Amino acid sequence: MINIEIYQAKPEDGERLKQIAIASKSYWGYSEHLMGQWAQTPIITSELINKDIVYMACANSLIIGWYRLLIRLPVAILEDLWVLPDYIGKGVGRKLFEHAIQQADLSGAERLELDADPNAEPFYTRMGCKAAGESISEWGRAIPHMTYNLQR
Ligand SMILES: CC(C)(COP(=O)(O)OP(=O)(O)OC[C@H]1O[C@@H](n2cnc3c(N)ncnc32)[C@H](O)[C@@H]1OP(=O)(O)O)[C@@H](O)C(=O)NCCC(=O)NCCS
Repeated sequence: MINIEIYQAKPEDGERLKQIAIASKSYWGYSEHLMGQWAQTPIITSELINKDIVYMACANSLIIGWYRLLIRLPVAILEDLWVLPDYIGKGVGRKLFEHAIQQADLSGAERLELDADPNAEPFYTRMGCKAAGESISEWGRAIPHMTYNLQR
């Protein structure tokens, strides 16, 4: 069991967080062409880190995953959730997701919403999310839109 600590991201973490997102998404075996196109987009910037809620999972002082939450009350949107391939399947995603739920709750949101990578849908279902239709991704494909109810 790895010891995971959660820290708020700082603007200077942006470049490393972008590299982690690219490594993480590559885990699903997408083509170099699609990944290369995506890597040309901002993904995460110091401005977004200042504006949104961005937290990182760290183990042994290394960043191994992160998430970004947007507050658009009554909704909180989980815009990013990435774990480095070497750490996938070790409880890091759960820890980050549960932290994001806490932050969404603290912000007063009634529900969390997200557009899931189709490969990650079983993870979100396990976390308690429900499928709620489809969204069209930046790659033009239909992907699951999911919600998590925060109202007690
Ligand atoms: C999706 C992702 C964030 C999940 O993080 P993770 O660290 O691998 O997940 P965890 O190890 O914390 O798993 C949490 C739970 O979900 C379950 N789970 C994870 N993936 C699953 C799958 N494909 N099918 C069924 N259950 C799954 C685990 O068994 C675990 O259950 P438990 O805690 O009750 O034992 C991670 O796989 C990832 O970064 N993938 C690549 C990038 C990506 O797709 N990000 C999401 C973009 S929307």
